[in-house]
Amino acid sequence: MNATSVATAAYIVAALLFILSLAGLSKHETARRGVWFGITGMAIAIVATFALVVDLATGSDTHGGGGSLSVVLLLVAVVIGASIGLWRARIVEMTGMPELIALLHSFVGLAAVLVGWNGYLEYRGEPRAGDTLLHIHDAEVFIGIFIGAVTFTGSIIAFLKLSARIKSAPLMLPGKNLINVGALVVFAALTVAFVADPQLWELIAVTTVALALGLHLVASIGGGDMPVVVSMLNSYSGWAAAASGFLLDNDLLIVTGALVGSSGAYLSYIMCQAMNRSFISVIAGGFGIEATGGAEIEGEHREIDAEGVADLLTSASSVVITPGYGMAVAQAQYPVADLTRRLRERGVDVRFGIHPVAGRLPGHMNVLLAEAKVPYDIVLEMDEINDDLAATDVVLVIGANDTVNPAAAEDPSSPIAGMPVLRVWEAKNVVVFKRSMAAGYAGVQNPLFFRENTQMLFGDAKERVGDILAALARVPA
Ligand code: TAP
Repeated sequence: MNATSVATAAYIVAALLFILSLAGLSKHETARRGVWFGITGMAIAIVATFALVVDLATGSDTHGGGGSLSVVLLLVAVVIGASIGLWRARIVEMTGMPELIALLHSFVGLAAVLVGWNGYLEYRGEPRAGDTLLHIHDAEVFIGIFIGAVTFTGSIIAFLKLSARIKSAPLMLPGKNLINVGALVVFAALTVAFVADPQLWELIAVTTVALALGLHLVASIGGGDMPVVVSMLNSYSGWAAAASGFLLDNDLLIVTGALVGSSGAYLSYIMCQAMNRSFISVIAGGFGIEATGGAEIEGEHREIDAEGVADLLTSASSVVITPGYGMAVAQAQYPVADLTRRLRERGVDVRFGIHPVAGRLPGHMNVLLAEAKVPYDIVLEMDEINDDLAATDVVLVIGANDTVNPAAAEDPSSPIAGMPVLRVWEAKNVVVFKRSMAAGYAGVQNPLFFRENTQMLFGDAKERVGDILAALARVPA
């Protein structure tokens, strides 16, 4: 058996492991196993690819080529990449994950652009007449560069927005939809011209148009809609990798890229449903932007202290906790898990309500709560808990804002109008944990804070939950 057949067999095993990994990651209970399937599949893929390169290199050495140089270059690249990856993974905070992911997507995009350019330079000047395979190759080059470049700049803008290095407000260029459609038309025309007769200027033009399109697509999407953009870029990065797979003639890269591309597209679709947005308008870039700033809110808010919350909780029979980004910032999941355990020991029914876009990345809250060992069976999705909120004694809103904003349901002029939210205001008592009266990620004021049944507990969520735990310890069970 030669190295190519062994590598092909290894690639099939790796591809199956990636599919099992995705299946595992779709449920809390099997997520850990899913991660291990993914790690094993990737290890097999890297070893098989390395063996293939060494085999090819040894073969090319006999033809006097710099084969060993390829092996050395590959090794150097793997060592540098792995070291940076390990270092970043060790130091990244959970709150920094979304921007790190966006940055990683940009690398996939850039790699696809470079692979595409290399694919062009390799066959430049060869006669095309009657050579269908070369025409297909040219189309792959062109499409790969386009998707890669859109992913590259789009992901960089997402990175800058998510890390608050630039404002998350949407860029509102006049005729923005026309700009996007125009870029697609130019791309289609250039593709036809390039496949008929490849020219360097066409490649430069498509790279430039795609870089500008990626930048514009993501820049024109506002704060509250960023979750969909992140998963959409995830999908694009998959298609960019698949395009590179075609060019490099690597089946595993095609399969893996398609898996990432389709699962990312499906995730974007689920997100769109959760946010009540149209999938097509997301792909077209920029939606939900026509809305104005929403109605001005006037009124007084009421405050409560930790002792008061402890009293409310001990006299309640049902409590729902709705966490948000602030819980992640404060790293309050551990005291929150502690509070949950203590209340359950006292016979209080405690459950969690998780909004699909709470935090800054899909499943953000679920990961934090699992990390703090909160039992899975009391962590419910928004749709599972929303109808129970009216019969709930106390809702603790811990560092959440946009995901519990009644304006989404009640104010059609709000930028987040139509987005389904946790209807916490229907509960008998609501306690909101945050540090100030500031707006959430979407920059929208929250009328919940001024409702009759809402009380604010100001301060860092971790410290305030700690105070409640201390107060609870003083109340006999
Ligand atoms: P947000 O609307 O982001 O609000 C979080 C709140 O936490 C803020 O109002 C902040 O108020 C408070 N906070 C921050 N640090 C805190 C701390 N140390 N202690 C206590 N409170 C703290 O949260 P959300 O309800 O989770 O909504 C998520 C938002 O992010 C949505 O708009 C969503 O569209 C967007 N987004 C989501 C994702 C994904 S995939 N989940 C990705 C990108 C964007 P103070 O400053 O007053 O404390």
